[in-house]
Amino acid sequence: MMMMMMLQIILLLTESVLVSSYALNSTVQCERPDAKTTRRVRAGESLYLPCPNLQCYEETENRLHVWFRNLSRTKQVEQIGTEGSERVHYHQSALYILWLNLNDTGRYITRWWYAEDECDEFETEVVVYEEFSTDLLYHTMPEQKVSGIYCPVCEYQQGSIVWYKVCLGGCCFLFWQNFALIPNQEFARVLRIPNSSKESEGIYTCVCTWEHHGIKHNSSGSRRLIIKEQTISSPPKFLLPINNSVVFADVGSEVILNCSVFFGLTVCDRCSIRWEKNGIRPSGLNGYEQKYRRMDGTIQSVLTITEVSESDLRSEFACKAEDSVEVIFVSVTLKSRASVFCVILACICTFLVLLLVGGVLKWFALDLVLFLRQIFVKLYRKEDGKLYDAYVIYQKNNLDEMTSKTVSDFVSGSLLTVLESYYGFKLFIHGRDDLPGEDCINLIETEIQLSRRLIIILTPGASTDKSNVSPEAYDLQVGLHQALVQGETGVILIQLGQMQDYTHLPLGLQHLLCKNSPLLWRDGESSPNSRFWKRVRYQMPVASSCQKSSRSRSLKASFQCQGLLV
Ligand SMILES: *[C@@H]1O[C@H](CO)[C@@H](O)[C@H](O)[C@H]1NC(C)=O
Ligand SMILES: *[C@@H]1O[C@H](CO)[C@@H](O)[C@H](O)[C@H]1NC(C)=O
Ligand SMILES: *[C@@H]1O[C@H](CO)[C@@H](O)[C@H](O)[C@H]1NC(C)=O
Ligand SMILES: *[C@@H]1O[C@H](CO)[C@@H](O)[C@H](O)[C@H]1NC(C)=O
Repeated sequence: MMMMMMLQIILLLTESVLVSSYALNSTVQCERPDAKTTRRVRAGESLYLPCPNLQCYEETENRLHVWFRNLSRTKQVEQIGTEGSERVHYHQSALYILWLNLNDTGRYITRWWYAEDECDEFETEVVVYEEFSTDLLYHTMPEQKVSGIYCPVCEYQQGSIVWYKVCLGGCCFLFWQNFALIPNQEFARVLRIPNSSKESEGIYTCVCTWEHHGIKHNSSGSRRLIIKEQTISSPPKFLLPINNSVVFADVGSEVILNCSVFFGLTVCDRCSIRWEKNGIRPSGLNGYEQKYRRMDGTIQSVLTITEVSESDLRSEFACKAEDSVEVIFVSVTLKSRASVFCVILACICTFLVLLLVGGVLKWFALDLVLFLRQIFVKLYRKEDGKLYDAYVIYQKNNLDEMTSKTVSDFVSGSLLTVLESYYGFKLFIHGRDDLPGEDCINLIETEIQLSRRLIIILTPGASTDKSNVSPEAYDLQVGLHQALVQGETGVILIQLGQMQDYTHLPLGLQHLLCKNSPLLWRDGESSPNSRFWKRVRYQMPVASSCQKSSRSRSLKASFQCQGLLV
């Protein structure tokens, strides 16, 4: 045990001898791992200066610290002593400069031996100020919200702390008497600031009182608190590009993507924008170049793709804008012009095909309806108690020769051939289906009621002579009454030849003509498949299938009628 102690003492002695021989005319070059640090202090206070490197400060066991100084006044390097009675002395890794004066300004060097022939050197520049000055302020970032302020001195010492506050502006450069003591903050290393606001701004000074060899010393440090304008932060606004837009490009060509974001006119240090390709910044990649520009609250980023590749066409390019609150983005995709051309062509083709189909449908709609009606209505036909498909009304008397011939040709020709023979409709034709010469008013009413449609044939010269109630004039009246007043029977108007107007026709007929335009029959449309007959059939009910009974029944009705008249 004793041996060990002796050995240690001998070791220590040799070390100190070694050091003292090294110290001044040192042949060993020490490493300088850290940059120079600076301490700004006030004259009259005292400085406790720890070795600026944390390892150098904390590792004192079996290590040797030697302090030197090179005062600005003398420009001479001199070793500092360790005597506690001296105003400037050191104890291991800490230097004491008591009651600072302006002559203490200079460079202070700590030489730290951590092995016999290995050492580091750390330098601190101490600047002593006669009076309080803003140069003495410790650095603080402007913040929007703070919860408190750290005292920048007495970090490694025991001491009592008092906080003062000075307003900003003109009074800042006045002296200590203007510093207002903040109550209830003694011993607080952190000054709490609840609800920081613009009023909280100012210079905060903490004075740390510490004891050395029974004597009290003061060290102070000041910070300026700046509260940033509480901007009603509006999110960044994209001026360019349009979100989810498409940029046309060809493989191999150059494309320039522009992004422009407005961040507002207040200073925004953390605002930035960038282009990303599938979430990765392409700036570093070959063939991509990104440039930035800042002006008037707007940041622009221009991404140049020198040669668009297939992978670019499949990728999503996003411009991301970041402010202190959030990151927002807009997306852009590249499309090759060729594919766009194809899409447009396809669209046009589809449109044309649709147009064609529409036209064909319109042209064949009538045929289609007739065809379908034949199938469905025949299947689901219900007995309606009617005997005829249509009652034909036309004028026979009071017509000029030409018209009379046209009418009779039409009625006994085309009408009968097409509707009755060809399509199997059952028609009641006055003068054919009643007994000739009979004037049978009741018969007319009955037959009209037994008909599903009225076919009224309009002729140019037709006029209604009200004094002479001919059967055809009467059946027209009954028919119109049935169609207009009772609304039971559908009317099909067929016009033979051109007409100037319809004023010569009965009012009821004119009224019907206002609602439905007549089907115009021209000579020569005798083919059962002509458009005219299709339109007639379209307005007709589905043909009754039992054509044979038509004549016999109508004859029977005629006989009944005769019986009634007798
Ligand atoms: C002391 O410091 C001054 C600069 O402040 C420098 O010019 C001078 O060379 C230093 N002296 C020595 C001996 O290093
Ligand atoms: C500082 O140095 C100057 C000149 O070297 C001397 O006159 C003065 O007394 C010194 N001041 C202090 C406080 O030691
Ligand atoms: C230290 O500062 C306090 C005020 O914080 C003051 O009352 C005291 O006199 C100062 N002491 C020295 C030695 O300057
Ligand atoms: C752009 O569109 C995407 C969705 O496609 C959306 O997530 C994003 O928020 C939009 N960006 C902006 C700035 O509106």
